[in-house]
Amino acid sequence: MGTGRAGETTSGRAAGAGQGRAAGTERGRAAGAGSAGAEAGFETRAIHAGQAPDPRTGAVVPPIYQVSTYAQDGVGGLREGYEYSRTANPTRTALEECLAALEGGARALAFASGMAAEDCLLRTVCQPGDHVLIPHDAYGGTYRLFDKVFARWQVSYRAVDMSDPAAVRRALAHRPARVVWVETPTNPLLSVADISAVGQACREGGALLVVDNTFASPYLQNPLALGADVVMHSTTKYLGGHSDVVGGALVVADADLGERLAFHRNATGGVAGPFDAWLTLRGIKTLAVRMDRHCGNASRVADMLLAHPAVSAVLYPGLASHPGHEVAAKQMRGFGGMVSFRMNAGEEAAVAVCGRTRLFTLGESLGGVESLIEHPGRMTHASASGSALEVPADLVRLSVGIESVQDLLADLSTALAG
Ligand SMILES: Cc1ncc(COP(=O)(O)O)c(C=O)c1O
Repeated sequence: MGTGRAGETTSGRAAGAGQGRAAGTERGRAAGAGSAGAEAGFETRAIHAGQAPDPRTGAVVPPIYQVSTYAQDGVGGLREGYEYSRTANPTRTALEECLAALEGGARALAFASGMAAEDCLLRTVCQPGDHVLIPHDAYGGTYRLFDKVFARWQVSYRAVDMSDPAAVRRALAHRPARVVWVETPTNPLLSVADISAVGQACREGGALLVVDNTFASPYLQNPLALGADVVMHSTTKYLGGHSDVVGGALVVADADLGERLAFHRNATGGVAGPFDAWLTLRGIKTLAVRMDRHCGNASRVADMLLAHPAVSAVLYPGLASHPGHEVAAKQMRGFGGMVSFRMNAGEEAAVAVCGRTRLFTLGESLGGVESLIEHPGRMTHASASGSALEVPADLVRLSVGIESVQDLLADLSTALAG
């Protein structure tokens, strides 16, 4: 497994790999510098970082380089470092430079899905015999990856309440871990971990802190600035934002770790294709305005549910009653568009509400412009059924979209009335 040994280069061809990345970065620097450098505002970086007008035609949007290979000027004479699209592709480079700029990272890598990103990270930093701490309410797919895949490769895990930094410290003292995996807010229970406090525990315990930032998006939260080593995204969600593309990303603070990840991604091949990278980049341009509306609508929905007699609990970090509210207010710039709630009448009532909404579409996934509703216990988190990570059966999860909020409130009221 990868341990950052010398000679582990992106493509396995030292010169080509090094050139490929360096050239891509230079291009982005020339393009992004000034107009979208680190000092530029978030919205400016989202629209311009990595996305300078095409030097030949002036096209204001990076082209979709739907290509597998590149002509060489003599053997090894790569143009801007591009040799084969598994290793690097200009449309993907544009997305990666933009993601790095949004998260304040040294390097970003785009993958075919969030799970491909997670898999690549774990293969890069872990080896058989390693131990990992995961959230006791992790996303079901993340839990499945640890429980069903990495356990077979002798990477053991322990589920910990990440909202309690003391619990993380105790777990690390009991048994050192290679990785501490944090999701904040979590899917679907919306619990909040204090990234700075957990980061401190990780530094003392010698663990790498990975933060799944999917629910917040880089517009609301930047884990690297709070002490995380790696940020992971399912770009399928808010970054893409239109429910039309599946993708994932890793953003790292340390360029050497970035190079090791690039090596493994090239070796295993789970890259984002050019059209998927382009769609994600297109979505990112409007991330800021979408997130503002997601946050506003979700807050109104949470207030309405809180006052509803059929609802026993509302899980939304923006509510003053939420146990993680203060930490969320400290480390986030808004509370996001995800709201979960529990039904007084139990599982069947929760399932029935999911089937009665008209505007909230019954379906998995989240973070798109359209509102979605689902029953995590039977849908997204069915893989955690029977485990310590099982979610309550009376739970309903909403991805609150950016439609007119009056219509969303009316749809939920009708569905809750039965
Ligand atoms: C918090 C979180 N992390 C990771 C993933 C996995 O991402 P993908 O579905 O893009 O593979 C998801 C998907 O729902 C998620 O919600």
